[in-house]
Amino acid sequence: MTSGKFITLEGGEGVGKSTNIQFVKEYLKAQNIPVVLTREPGGTPVAEAIRELLLEKHSEPFSVQSELLLMFAARAQHLSQVIQPNLKKGTWVLCDRFTDATYAYQGGGRKLDNNTIAWLENLVQGDFRPDLTLLLDTPIEIGLSRAKARNTLDRFESEQVVFFEAVRSVYLARARQFPERIKIIKADQPLANVQKDIVEILKQVVD
Ligand SMILES: Nc1ncnc2c1ncn2[C@@H]1O[C@H](COP(=O)(O)OP(=O)(O)OP(=O)(O)O)[C@@H](O)[C@H]1O
Ligand SMILES: [Mg+2]
Repeated sequence: MTSGKFITLEGGEGVGKSTNIQFVKEYLKAQNIPVVLTREPGGTPVAEAIRELLLEKHSEPFSVQSELLLMFAARAQHLSQVIQPNLKKGTWVLCDRFTDATYAYQGGGRKLDNNTIAWLENLVQGDFRPDLTLLLDTPIEIGLSRAKARNTLDRFESEQVVFFEAVRSVYLARARQFPERIKIIKADQPLANVQKDIVEILKQVVD
């Protein structure tokens, strides 16, 4: 049975996920590996509509439970329509954020209970987890200043420093908890050095 690998890129605002996912795609294509690139929340028409809802600013407060459930609603759609079908036919899937982001943002940032997130993770994913996660890590000021230089801030990007510190610390804790799967990349270096570190890790999954 052929099966592609599922690689996710994670990290806070502006760390370089979208920049480096393109680099990973080119690297894998050069090794003749079929690959699709996608993102969360989003990746299908329905899930992208949910993304809009999640990122826009609204005139009413957004319940943290609504936020969590919408994240997993989008994920269920994405898994069934894009991720699983591609992996089944042998295409590798590269995803800009996945469930580690839910632990970091809704768990760390919004202080939702880990067990609740884990329950939804099991409901939506069963035992499906990424084969490899590249966690791009920078001090939060660096990522935020990159993100601010680029666009107007969405609902998450408009949070306070303590929120982003909590997000970062949960990401790092998860990397310590799952060292085989989650690899930390020091992302506050020149892009060429970041990408050199990424290649070293990719070599281990490509062979
Ligand atoms: N190593 C780096 N050094 C300097 N600038 C970088 C580096 N990596 C990315 N950038 C720049 O920082 C900005 C943010 O990068 P990018 O959009 O890839 O981050 P992101 O993690 O996808 O952000 P977001 O969380 O907002 O989606 C871009 O303008 C990008 O060119
Ligand atoms: Mg991005």
